[in-house]
Amino acid sequence: MTSLESKAVLITGAEGGLGAFVTKAFLEAGALVAGVSRSINESDFPHPSFAAISAELSDSSAAEAVAAQVVERFGKLDALIHLVGGFAGGQPVADTDDATVDKMLDMNFRSAFHVMRAAVRRMKGGGRIVAIGSRAVSEPVAAIAAYAASKAALISLVRTLAVENRDAGITANVIVPTTIDTPATRAADPNADHSRWTDPRRMANLAVWLVSEEASQVTGAVIPLYGRGV
Ligand SMILES: NC(=O)c1ccc[n+]([C@@H]2O[C@H](COP(=O)([O-])OP(=O)(O)OC[C@H]3O[C@@H](n4cnc5c(N)ncnc54)[C@H](OP(=O)(O)O)[C@@H]3O)[C@@H](O)[C@H]2O)c1
Repeated sequence: MTSLESKAVLITGAEGGLGAFVTKAFLEAGALVAGVSRSINESDFPHPSFAAISAELSDSSAAEAVAAQVVERFGKLDALIHLVGGFAGGQPVADTDDATVDKMLDMNFRSAFHVMRAAVRRMKGGGRIVAIGSRAVSEPVAAIAAYAASKAALISLVRTLAVENRDAGITANVIVPTTIDTPATRAADPNADHSRWTDPRRMANLAVWLVSEEASQVTGAVIPLYGRGV
């Protein structure tokens, strides 16, 4: 197993459907983990290396405060695993309202911008940024334009960070799943062929590897993890 002994890792959306797998994987790899969401508690991951930080990341000052708290608690910030994001769709562009566009930009782009800016300011002597994209960015699907465009903006942000920080030892990459096989997605679509969905354990392992020393030359990558859903 990859060892991330004593790496200070900030995971946003840490107790979400994917986040639960990712947070456990980083703790098992030996990392010090600060987990963020609006309603997270220490008891969500009873582990001596886990700290819960409750914050609303669409607020830029809250995102700055989160990154500052991680440095205060662990003395450094080595990696940001940004999992916060969400989905809305069902209408073609002609019928999509402004509230849906705002919600998608807030959840998938603005929150990412706030926390990535706050994190990169504090990554000294290197760092790692990992985010979650969407297949709909490269293979458009009808009736989800606001979601897909907000994820496209996220991918552009991450790839720009990779270029801006290439001489600072900071890598920035995006993992792209199909539907992730979580309790919530199973409940929403119980009759689907779940073997064609992305396994959240594989996503968690890939995120751990991207933070490891072995992945130090992988940057600006958009990595599909489609499995049998390809
Ligand atoms: N599920 C899928 O099939 C799928 C497919 C493609 C891509 N993705 C992407 O994968 C990522 C994880 O998805 P998921 O299914 O695990 O989502 P999820 O279960 O809805 O989890 C989202 C997490 O983000 C937190 N959160 C949401 N808004 C926040 C905010 N403004 N500030 C702080 N925390 C916030 C939520 O906790 P609180 O509510 O407590 O804040 C929760 O921990 C997302 O980026 C999603 O777009 C998912």
